[in-house]
Amino acid sequence: MKTAAIIVAAGSGSRFNSDTPKQFLEINGKPVIVHTLERFQAAPSVDRIVLVLSEGQMGKVDSSLFPKLESVVTGGSTRAESVWNGLNAVGEEISIVAVHDGARPLVTVDEIERSIAKAKETGAACLVAPVIDTIKSVRSGEIAATLDRDKLRRAVTPQVFKIEVLSKAFETADLSGSVTDDCLLVEKLGYPIAIVEGSSRNIKITHPEDLILAETLMKNV
Ligand code: C5P
Repeated sequence: MKTAAIIVAAGSGSRFNSDTPKQFLEINGKPVIVHTLERFQAAPSVDRIVLVLSEGQMGKVDSSLFPKLESVVTGGSTRAESVWNGLNAVGEEISIVAVHDGARPLVTVDEIERSIAKAKETGAACLVAPVIDTIKSVRSGEIAATLDRDKLRRAVTPQVFKIEVLSKAFETADLSGSVTDDCLLVEKLGYPIAIVEGSSRNIKITHPEDLILAETLMKNV
């Protein structure tokens, strides 16, 4: 079963307030996206990598550093469109796809390996992180309910699927609404998705303070 990682890094980083897209800002002297690619390059179960970049960033990653990097394709105006473009670039020999946010450079090889192994066994697997705060649902400026924290997880990436499962999810999906992860589309098919417990260190670089946190976490591996 050959596996491709689809790494989506075509976001504009509008929440970041920087002219450089966040995936090209540096952590410890290397762009975020390079850290992310290094982790997938090092994961034994990953055979190929498809990288999704925005038009303006094409050519900015030195592909000679990553022998598994098979193709670099242009993203779309939403994350889901970017994943779809990546999925269409995956070769015919691939039976498993691991979709990962380029903005999560702290994922570990162990998390990648466990997620892929689980998807090979079940068809669909989502890496999750613990919820440490008490979560409230809110309505009209007031607390509506307190959710049971033991039953909650944060969906992170990679999210890994048999290719026919993810392709079917995308082919039948309505991509016009808010689709913030790939599992959502697979859930809508009614397909069961196994969880893989991961670390809260697998943060998504979203705000400037996340770069400082990532820098500190990387120095303390
Ligand atoms: O915007 P969000 O934080 O959900 O982005 C998650 C990942 O999806 C990031 O790595 C970002 O670069 C990517 N993305 C993309 N194409 C978009 C929007 C986001 O590849 N149009």
